[in-house]
Amino acid sequence: MSRLNIVVGITGGIAAYKAVGVVRALVLAGHDVHVVPTEGALRFVGRPTLEAISRNPVHTDLYEGVAEVRHVAIGQAADLIVIAPATANSIAKLAAGLADDLLGNTVLASEAPIVIAPAMHTEMWLNQATAANVATLRERGVTIVGPAVGQLTGADSGPGRMEEPDVIVAAALARAAAAAGLPRDDLSGRRVVVTAGGTREPLDPVRFLGNRSSGKQGVAIAEAARARGAQVTLIAANLEVAAPGGCDIRSVSTARELQAAVTEAAAGADLVVMAAAVADYRPAEVSESKIKKQPGDDGLTLELVRNPDILAGLGHAPHEGTLLVGFAAETEPDDERLLALGAAKLEAKGADLLVVNRVGWAEGFARDDNRVVILGRDGVRARADGSKMSVAHGILDVAVQHLREQAAPDPGVAREQPAPSG
Ligand code: CTP
Repeated sequence: MSRLNIVVGITGGIAAYKAVGVVRALVLAGHDVHVVPTEGALRFVGRPTLEAISRNPVHTDLYEGVAEVRHVAIGQAADLIVIAPATANSIAKLAAGLADDLLGNTVLASEAPIVIAPAMHTEMWLNQATAANVATLRERGVTIVGPAVGQLTGADSGPGRMEEPDVIVAAALARAAAAAGLPRDDLSGRRVVVTAGGTREPLDPVRFLGNRSSGKQGVAIAEAARARGAQVTLIAANLEVAAPGGCDIRSVSTARELQAAVTEAAAGADLVVMAAAVADYRPAEVSESKIKKQPGDDGLTLELVRNPDILAGLGHAPHEGTLLVGFAAETEPDDERLLALGAAKLEAKGADLLVVNRVGWAEGFARDDNRVVILGRDGVRARADGSKMSVAHGILDVAVQHLREQAAPDPGVAREQPAPSG
């Protein structure tokens, strides 16, 4: 995405210290960031920190810089406004359209998309006044990120904790790109490998063991990566949808064929996305001729043997310079347990990111929409839902951010230990 002029508003809550991580990630992503803290925010985080991290002067006072009409100039120039944390009070002021400080004026004077990350105690979040204010903002097109459920300031926990900086940044940039209808070229010069579809393990010349994956999500990722400038190799396992143009397509059928193709293509790639559903077992023997019913039998027992775990093989081999993204198809209905299964799978496979995808009789497969959580080594990196194409871009947004962080390691600001917010 081209360089955006982004205003980061910070309001007075303890989570203000985490806003430094938001500013830093946006600067690292190449954007021009102007921080507008409220007076309350400056009690939690110092102006010098915000100026150093944003690389721009930080203003709060409505009556400074009057000659340059600062109270409207900052908002007019903005391509995107991100407010993190947004306290209950600041949400009420935004909903009412108050302009009694520089941030209020900036918002009112701007036509840019607005993304806010609420942070407050659970009672305040659930209060009807806050709920009505949030509903008003949503109706006006404001994107609300979070709040997450977790430990708050003090002993209590529940919904109200500010989302992690990475999640806020991914949502904010996706919103800005969608608002501008921007073609993104942030994968230009990168080599991307995507596996898509479902493997089939033959039993005999006419039968196989397969799965319900249509390949739609993987194909959307390949198309999205291509549109963002990448050179894409698509390893296509029995797709039920048309393969996209502009990609190098390698057709495979079984898990072992997929393993050979992806192992070869992954060497030297910047990003490997393992979206294909791979059979964990295959028949121990493949019959050369059609298996016939035997007179008098009332069943057939198949012996299956384990297939290689391809992702774990790549993940546990040295893969420096190659970002490895796995998928987890899970039927677990409970959200918390679903994420715990995802975190365990990420670790077991040695992947860098894992896209957790709930599947079921009526969810996930062959549909045009999808809903996923993208996990990193340190927890939730983003959530994406909508068409499989918009989910594909959501996954690539996180991958691109990760590739950038690898190129410019973070000294620790954006990756602090989770700490109470409220
Ligand atoms: N995968 C793989 N090789 C296999 C099985 C899965 O590379 N033999 C990859 C998939 O492409 C996906 C990830 O591993 O990116 C997780 O797949 P999933 O089916 O969710 O998990 P499994 O490893 O098969 O574990 P289980 O079925 O026990 O949950």
